[in-house]
Amino acid sequence: MTANGSDGGSRRRRPRPESLMMSWGYRPELSEGAVKPPLFQTSTFGFRSAEEGKEFFSYAYGLAPRDPQRPMGLIYSRLNNPDLEILEDRLNLWDEAEASAVFSSGMAAISTSLLALVPLGGTVVFARPVYGGTDYLMEHVLPDLGVVTREFPAGAEAGELDAICHELAAAGTPCRMVFLETPANPTMILTDIAAVAEVAHRHGALCAVDNTLLGPLYQQPLRHGADLVVYSATKYLGGHSDLVAGSALGSRELIDRVKLYRTILGTMLDPHSAWLLLRSLETAKLRITCARKNAERLAPWLARHPGVARVRFPGLLVDRRQRRIYGRQCSGPGALISFELAGAGEAEAFRFLNAVRLIKLAVSLGGTESLIEHPATMTHADVPADEQRAIGITPALVRLSVGIEHPDDLIADLEQALAAAGEAVPAAGPPAATEEV
Ligand SMILES: Cc1ncc(COP(=O)(O)O)c(C=O)c1O
Repeated sequence: MTANGSDGGSRRRRPRPESLMMSWGYRPELSEGAVKPPLFQTSTFGFRSAEEGKEFFSYAYGLAPRDPQRPMGLIYSRLNNPDLEILEDRLNLWDEAEASAVFSSGMAAISTSLLALVPLGGTVVFARPVYGGTDYLMEHVLPDLGVVTREFPAGAEAGELDAICHELAAAGTPCRMVFLETPANPTMILTDIAAVAEVAHRHGALCAVDNTLLGPLYQQPLRHGADLVVYSATKYLGGHSDLVAGSALGSRELIDRVKLYRTILGTMLDPHSAWLLLRSLETAKLRITCARKNAERLAPWLARHPGVARVRFPGLLVDRRQRRIYGRQCSGPGALISFELAGAGEAEAFRFLNAVRLIKLAVSLGGTESLIEHPATMTHADVPADEQRAIGITPALVRLSVGIEHPDDLIADLEQALAAAGEAVPAAGPPAATEEV
């Protein structure tokens, strides 16, 4: 069904990903000439003969030798489905990946990949903070299954990770994967992907990066040495807060191993969500660019507001090392801003959150609408309070996912909510410090 529209061997430059999102991986002649890929809402596919069924299974189960040029025959939607395959082909373009797999959620992508790629007795070393669900997986679920996990601080120097890996090897629980999220959710601390990947590889481990916050437009971890990239496609890729999905990308060899676990665990994406994602990808660049531009207006405005104590945004970094990392691996700051309210505790933060009108009080991020939440009691509520403090998740911290509304309307909403939150806020004062992350 899928046919990568190669350029026929000519030397023409391949069009950019945004130009291919309407056509790549789809051949209309196989679907009655339909310009758009139809929704293949089916659980199973008919074989033309028993011999064909035998051949498809033998290839799918690895009994026959793999040929990257030969697509797997359609069998059953837990193994493959045209909508999933077209989506995977298109996702490969943004990250310049050899292969990818789509999942029923970001957590399905992360957990299936970890289970497939980390052997029992091996250790996953993860940068903290990470998204709350990933944190729970690392802290509770993987250890329950016999996988050792160990943390290191997001943004740490490579030497710190190297020391941890040496220690783990000496203890007989060698590091098999380093997992990081950069920027880290919700503190926006950047970790140096190339430096981490180098240490991981030296210790025989894989480097996996959750690229949900900046990717795929503003950061491509595979280019910097990462082996695996994972996404919550629920966020910027889906972009409309109307579906839950995930993806993992990397070499064909790694993704084949991950897909085997996906088939057996049943964590694949459903055809309808895949079809919705195909629509979303056509406007991904437009949406993400608009949200990023809005965030670039909002972040300095927030930093100047007397009701705001500190802004964490990759476009406003003051720490020199963080700026160096940004310059090396990011091409834009994204559209997620975390900020702390001046002199605030939970009560004041809640007063502010309860006062927003245009901006929705909800978790998640990356949608067309702006969303705001309180990490300490919502997305990261599972992280123990002392850990929260240690990694910078304070009661005053709120996380704003900037959408594509008019920026003046967003500023007006924040202005009135900040006024409602702090009757004690001074009328004017020095600009707030930007976070030295
Ligand atoms: C950075 C990051 N990774 C992974 C996830 C999990 O994604 P999902 O909710 O699609 O399972 C989230 C969800 O918020 C996230 O923010």
